Amino acid sequence: MRRSKRLQVLCSELCACDSFADVGCDHGYCTQYMLEKGLCRSAVISDISEKSLRKAETLLSDYIASGKVRGVCCFGLSGIPSDTEQVLIAGMGGEEIVSILQNGFFPNRLVLQPMKNTPKLRRFLLDSGYSIVRDYTFMDGKHYDVLCALRKGARRAYGERELRFGYDNVHTPSADFLRLAEGEIEKCRARLRAAGEDVPAIRASLKEWTEVRNEITRNL
Ligand SMILES: C[S@@+](CC[C@H](N)C(=O)[O-])C[C@H]1O[C@@H](n2cnc3c(N)ncnc32)[C@H](O)[C@@H]1O
Repeated sequence: MRRSKRLQVLCSELCACDSFADVGCDHGYCTQYMLEKGLCRSAVISDISEKSLRKAETLLSDYIASGKVRGVCCFGLSGIPSDTEQVLIAGMGGEEIVSILQNGFFPNRLVLQPMKNTPKLRRFLLDSGYSIVRDYTFMDGKHYDVLCALRKGARRAYGERELRFGYDNVHTPSADFLRLAEGEIEKCRARLRAAGEDVPAIRASLKEWTEVRNEITRNL
């Protein structure tokens, strides 16, 4: 099957492991990738929605029949074995991902793709002792953030800018992130023009994006 660019990026961040779980699996394509490539020995697919889980169970029915994959309908990590090595949680809000981890356990390796509130998720991971080893934005029609975190690993220094925008976006910016920054600056300017007066929140956002854009272009 042809996976979207977003799913291809997520798959490219998954490592070989013994046990893998795809939380909020929906279609199940990422687990299919892990199994097709022989990257995990066993996998659990889970979703809070029975209907969504059924889609993945249908896609992976041969693997389920052979005992390599098990499906579970549950909230977050509640039905996932706590010794699962690598967990993917993608396509949910950052606060939902925080809630899933707070109410579950801390896997050795996480691949996360929050749809919003990424700074809150970064803060939570760092406060929970994780090293965030990959932290960048990519475009697939719209922009997406992806974070990979390890329970054990060298810690990178996160200040306010890294927490807000992502470590790799600040230190090794991609063309996608630069395009996002230019777009946000333009949006802020258009909003200020449309408002016809100063709006402090928009002005602050314009300043923040302009500063990060200027910093990254200086270092290119
Ligand atoms: C937008 S889809 C993303 C599917 C897939 N992970 C992806 O990135 O393409 C979000 C999925 O997460 C499921 N979901 C939302 N909140 C959840 C939770 N707390 N626990 C488990 N699944 C959840 C939804 O039912 C839905 O199938």
